[in-house]
Amino acid sequence: MAEMPLTSSDYYKKATSFWNYPEVPYGSALREMIRPTDVVADIGCGIGIVSRYLAAISRKVIAIDKDENALKVLNEDLNRLGLENIEVVHARWPNINTDDWDVAVAFYHHHFGFTRLEIETLLRKTRRCGMVVNQGKRPREGFYEDFGREFGLTEQDGSCVESCYVRGRLEQAGFIVTCNEIFHDFGQPVDSKAEAVAYVMKQLRLDEHHRQRLEEIILNYVEYVNGQMVLPIKRYNCMLQFYK
Ligand SMILES: C[S@@+](CC[C@H](N)C(=O)[O-])C[C@H]1O[C@@H](n2cnc3c(N)ncnc32)[C@H](O)[C@@H]1O
Repeated sequence: MAEMPLTSSDYYKKATSFWNYPEVPYGSALREMIRPTDVVADIGCGIGIVSRYLAAISRKVIAIDKDENALKVLNEDLNRLGLENIEVVHARWPNINTDDWDVAVAFYHHHFGFTRLEIETLLRKTRRCGMVVNQGKRPREGFYEDFGREFGLTEQDGSCVESCYVRGRLEQAGFIVTCNEIFHDFGQPVDSKAEAVAYVMKQLRLDEHHRQRLEEIILNYVEYVNGQMVLPIKRYNCMLQFYK
């Protein structure tokens, strides 16, 4: 019987488990902000990898996302693992109707905090502090860029999502804000050449006619990390931490 192709969630789970995300690189900053008695909002939680981490270091997590399919994956995992301190909320931030929280977290939720309503909602519902993480000014390095050039794909212009602007808005609202650049090695682990090809085809949405060329060159681009085959992605992120 043919094997089922891996889904985007499968690939993401494999990468987060291999790199121990979000403990690496954000664990120490998160533990510094979050107390065991806190309620934490994970805004833009996706399939809830960060929510599950936060649930282990806090009293309760409110995991919010607009994507029903991602929340379905999270709910299945919660049922399987028997985790009970995560409330899953299907909503489009900032239009939400939840309890308030002590700490807000928004990881890779692009353009989080760009509007007045978002900042007002954050100010009203956050009792103490929060963290926003997004790709920063320095361009990402890795397989996207290498294959983008090889296959003549248009390079995405500028990876930065203007965290400096969000910092300004938060400060304007009265939050005290710190920012740091955080390096994040987050290549995609793959178990075979065939899996590497399938992953790149999917991620870069390559046409079938690129497959043969990709199969010829892909092994020139993989790296080995502790014996594991990895398609490299090196990101330089902006980590904003804000306090009332
Ligand atoms: C790249 S994923 C990051 C997931 C997770 N934070 C992590 O680090 O693993 C970004 C998520 O933000 C969600 N998102 C974007 N805008 C949103 C909004 N206005 N309200 C709720 N979720 C949103 C998307 O649906 C997506 O699941």
